[in-house]
Amino acid sequence: MIAKKLSEMLNEQINKELYSAYLYRAISNYYAAKGLKGFSNWFAVQAGEELDHAWKINGYLIDEGVVPVLETISAPVGSFDDLRAPLVAAYEHEKFITSSINEIFKAADGEDDYRTKRFIGWFIDEQAEEEKNASDLVTEYDLFGSSSQGLFMLDSKLGDRK
Ligand SMILES: [Fe+2]
Repeated sequence: MIAKKLSEMLNEQINKELYSAYLYRAISNYYAAKGLKGFSNWFAVQAGEELDHAWKINGYLIDEGVVPVLETISAPVGSFDDLRAPLVAAYEHEKFITSSINEIFKAADGEDDYRTKRFIGWFIDEQAEEEKNASDLVTEYDLFGSSSQGLFMLDSKLGDRK
């Protein structure tokens, strides 16, 4: 049976993933209002993935015989200083999520809970990808985002992603 401390951490992680979905949807809405459909699409896709993460953890708890407790989700920031700010916010948020996932792995290791370690291993790999995507986007914005042609090119590229 899963340790109480670990199941509580996983339960909290559900909330963090749902908050991530909220944050990315808010960013998607921000870009939609700016007329940047590609950026808006990219963050809408991210929001969907975050929901999948939340329910994946929910399912794991159920399999472990724990009934998840769904808590209140905080309101995300919805206004940003400029077009670059949400990209930085997303990258910072992914780093926060990575450290949270790492804490769960560390706790599972401490409990000799090999099953939870394997389960969380998937999220560790996922976070490597999410952090890279978020960081790349800041880099690309800094390279191309200052001209209208560059911004158009980036927006078109992000519009194709599913
Ligand atoms: Fe996530």
